[in-house]
Amino acid sequence: MDSFELSKFAGAILAALLLIVASSVIVDLKTASSPSQPVAGYKLPTDTATAEAPAGEAKPTETAEAPAAAKDGAAAPATPAKDGAAAPTKDGAATPAPAAGGFDAKAVVALLASAKAEDGAAKFKACAACHQVKKDAPSAVAPNLWGIVNRPKAAQADYAAKYSEAMKAKGGEWSYENLALFLHQPKGYLPGTKMVYNGIKDPGEIASVIAYLRSLADAPAPLPN
Ligand code: HEC
Repeated sequence: MDSFELSKFAGAILAALLLIVASSVIVDLKTASSPSQPVAGYKLPTDTATAEAPAGEAKPTETAEAPAAAKDGAAAPATPAKDGAAAPTKDGAATPAPAAGGFDAKAVVALLASAKAEDGAAKFKACAACHQVKKDAPSAVAPNLWGIVNRPKAAQADYAAKYSEAMKAKGGEWSYENLALFLHQPKGYLPGTKMVYNGIKDPGEIASVIAYLRSLADAPAPLPN
C-alpha cells in the first residue's frame, strides 16, 4: 500500500511539475522514484487536514496515474508480451475456413435406412402450409404429395395446369436422390420453380422428411440397398 500511495504522491508532484516545464518533469520523476526525499516531505501534510488539499487535486492524480502505468509497463515487459500473444490468438480464431457448399444427396439417401418418418412428419408441418398429403385430397396452392416417391415430376393431375414451366420441363421421377436435392435447395435444383421454400440444411432432417413422404403411399417404395 505504501508504494501505491507513494506513486500517487509522485504522480501529484509530476502533475504539478507538468504545469511548469515538461522537461523538468522527467528530471524530477527520476529523482522521485529513487530516493525517498520527496516522499518524506509529503508524509507531513498527509496526517494533517492540509492533506485534503493535495487530495482535492486528485483530478490531476488521475492524469498522473497514466504516466505511472506507463512506467510499470516499461518496467515489466510482461504487458506488451501479453498483447503480442493475443494478436496471434485472434488470427488463429479467424482461421477456420467457411464450410464448403458441397451437398451430398447420396449421403442423405444412405440415411434413409435409419430415418424416422415420425420425425419427418413433424418437420413436414412447414410443408403442410401448402401441400396436401391425404390420398385424393384436392391440390390447393401446391400439388398433393400422396405417392410422390418415384412419381414422375409435375404429374399430379389436378395441378397439371399450375406447375411451373421449369417443373414441367425437368423430366424424370422423384427418386430419393432427386427429392433430397430439391428439398435441400428447391431453387438450386430447379431454377424457376414456383415452390417458395428455402430448403432444409440438415441432411438428417431431409432424410426424415423423405422417409415421411415415402410413407404416403398404399405400398411405400422400397428403401435403397
Ligand atoms: C409456400 C408453399 C410451399 C411450401 C412451404 C412447400 N412447397 Fe413444395 N411445392 C410448392 C409448389 C407451388 C410446388 C410446385 C412447384 C413448381 O411447379 O415449380 C411444389 C412442389 C413440390 C414437389 C414436387 C411435386 C410434383 O408433383 O412434382 C415436392 C416433392 C414438394 N413440393 C415437396 C415439398 C416439401 C417436402 C416441403 C417442405 C419441406 C415443401 N414442398 C414445402 C409449394 C410449397
